[in-house]
Amino acid sequence: MRRSVLVGCGSYLPDRLVTNFDLEKILDTSNDWIVERSGIHQRYFAAEGQLTSDLATHAAERALHAAGLRGGDVDLVVLATATPDQTFPATATKVQARLGMTRGAAFDIQAVCSGFIYALAVANNFIRTGQADVAVVIGAETFSRILDWQDRTTAVLFGDGAGAVVLKGVKGHGDISDRGVLSTHLHSDGRHGHLLYVDGGPSSSKQVGHLRMSGREVFRHAVVNLAEVVTETLTANGLTAADIDWVVPHQANRRILDGTAKKLGIDPAKMVVTVDQHANTSAASVPLALTAAVRDGRIKTGDLVLLEAMGGGFTWGAGLVRM
Ligand code: UT7
Repeated sequence: MRRSVLVGCGSYLPDRLVTNFDLEKILDTSNDWIVERSGIHQRYFAAEGQLTSDLATHAAERALHAAGLRGGDVDLVVLATATPDQTFPATATKVQARLGMTRGAAFDIQAVCSGFIYALAVANNFIRTGQADVAVVIGAETFSRILDWQDRTTAVLFGDGAGAVVLKGVKGHGDISDRGVLSTHLHSDGRHGHLLYVDGGPSSSKQVGHLRMSGREVFRHAVVNLAEVVTETLTANGLTAADIDWVVPHQANRRILDGTAKKLGIDPAKMVVTVDQHANTSAASVPLALTAAVRDGRIKTGDLVLLEAMGGGFTWGAGLVRM
């Protein structure tokens, strides 16, 4: 038996900082509305010509550095994104080339805001079954490219960025006190696709398209689905909310984070919150938040960390990691 241990993480934010006050100048909106409804104060946007693969490569290099490994050590890249550089090739293969990795496999995962949890689950299963030894798992997005600047209900909510973790295979099944990915739990329900989608794409349209969201409905489903998958994760591992050291949630809306914590009886002080700084960066948000909390010393080796996310599809999921 094998398991995968998270041996490093890293993140990257582009230089261009955009505050709510900047958005007030181009949209019929206000800092007060954005902060009150979402908790967002600012976001970062990629520079013109700066691609998802650029953000992803920086994050992956930083995660490998933190793990004391190099591109040549890696035999799997799983990259979650809904904003790939091109329709094909996979953005992951561009990152693979830039990391100097010439063996193994690299591919993209598409589960929108849940993408990182899906990618983590896939990489963890590759390692457990002996198909990979060292995996770089990346969430990277340039959502600024698919925002409709005529639609104030969505344009104020998203940002660009990337985060990555390195998983390494070790011998032994391990138990709950051992470092490693303890479990992952994935769900989707395609009946809700019309509530959060992009109105373009290669098969349906000549355009890349823009993000469309029925915010209120998505909000309602998010709190219910996230509470369910967190409960499923705790139950599968014989734990209660009190046993978890940190929750690293997808960062869509401060009110979703507070609502989920309340519903589950999780101490709000255990929730890692970056939505105020980064806005919603889709697949990048969980590894960005994880890296922020590792870097500032909150999350330490040995901590029990629960990751969760919900996004378009709908897709949702959670993962439990002993760091
Ligand atoms: O990451 C994937 C998952 N995504 C999410 O989880 C997002 C879930 N949804 C949300 O976060 C929230 O629903 C939003 C932040 C999108 C919206 O908050 P809300 O409390 O649901 O507001 P609302 O959509 O009900 O809109 C309230 C009002 C409306 O005006 P009326 O109809 O009440 O007069 C909107 O027109 O706010 C208005 N409004 C705005 N006002 C100023 C909508 N957007 C803006 C804006 N600035 N940017």
